[in-house]
Amino acid sequence: MTDAADKPLAWITGAAGLLGHYLIQTAPRFAPGFRVRGWSRADLDILDFPAVRRAFREQRPALLLHCAAMSKTPEAQANPALARRINVEATAHLAELAADVPFVFFSTDLVFDGQRGGYVETDPVSPLNVYGETKAAAEQIVLRHPRALIVRLSINAGISPTGDRAFNEQIRRAWERGETLRFFTDEFRCPIPAVVTARVIWELAQRGVTGLYHVAGSERLSRLQIGQLLAARWPHLNPRFEAMSVKDFPGGPRPPDVSMNCAKVQALLSFPLPAFSQWLREHPDEPL
Ligand SMILES: NC(=O)c1ccc[n+]([C@@H]2O[C@H](COP(=O)([O-])OP(=O)(O)OC[C@H]3O[C@@H](n4cnc5c(N)ncnc54)[C@H](OP(=O)(O)O)[C@@H]3O)[C@@H](O)[C@H]2O)c1
Repeated sequence: MTDAADKPLAWITGAAGLLGHYLIQTAPRFAPGFRVRGWSRADLDILDFPAVRRAFREQRPALLLHCAAMSKTPEAQANPALARRINVEATAHLAELAADVPFVFFSTDLVFDGQRGGYVETDPVSPLNVYGETKAAAEQIVLRHPRALIVRLSINAGISPTGDRAFNEQIRRAWERGETLRFFTDEFRCPIPAVVTARVIWELAQRGVTGLYHVAGSERLSRLQIGQLLAARWPHLNPRFEAMSVKDFPGGPRPPDVSMNCAKVQALLSFPLPAFSQWLREHPDEPL
């Protein structure tokens, strides 16, 4: 029997975030051959390059899953310089340290401008906001890593340690406060449960897959359809919402349709990427 200490070590940054948390929680089920070390910001600030370098050289991980990021679009828009340091420069530093081991980087469907939808991996990027720009810039750096896996994600549903990261948590909290939400009829994403994303990542990472992949749910849904699905799940919250057009949104430009074609990754996976509505029906008790 392999002693736990003999297993290769996987590092996960962003451990207190939504996806880092799911990757850590699911490792015993999806990647039992790995020992996992999760790093939250409190353990290690990825902007503290000397501390990161010291820890990396001490522990010599065999795999790095880099989830830490400034992941909120409005926060990145308000702090572009810091967003670039965290999302681009710290990513470049980690990729350089991990030059000899597989490196997994998490990008976003927001690298696209959303004019067309159904994007494939070879489509040109054209981000509309700082968050998307930083992710597109980081992708270019990480692509030079010889063993990099880059996954562009759509919105992930789940329960985060802080209770406020996933889109479903933000909607549930607003309804718990009695707010009436406004959902776009004409903005489209491909939501996916974070637990499914974690399964995809562990499967690809263990098989040493490299390259750029789109990973999302198989169903293109408007924000309004997503809201309706969650309202039907939580009738006890007395959910209140209105439909609106993204054209009437008073803030900055939003990409209307960043739905992604995931055929490239689907061809490698041992299971089908789920349609979000079907997954909700089949997992009525899954906490969201
Ligand atoms: N979840 C999604 O729907 C989605 C969609 C597309 C792409 N992605 C990408 O997938 C990755 C994981 O996303 P997520 O949803 O798990 O994000 P998340 O919940 O916001 O987690 C990111 C974590 O990174 C940490 N972090 C930020 N700056 C740091 C620093 N300087 N040092 C150390 N830790 C730092 C954050 O800590 P604080 O909380 O203290 O800031 C947070 O815990 C990100 O790269 C994100 O851009 C996610």
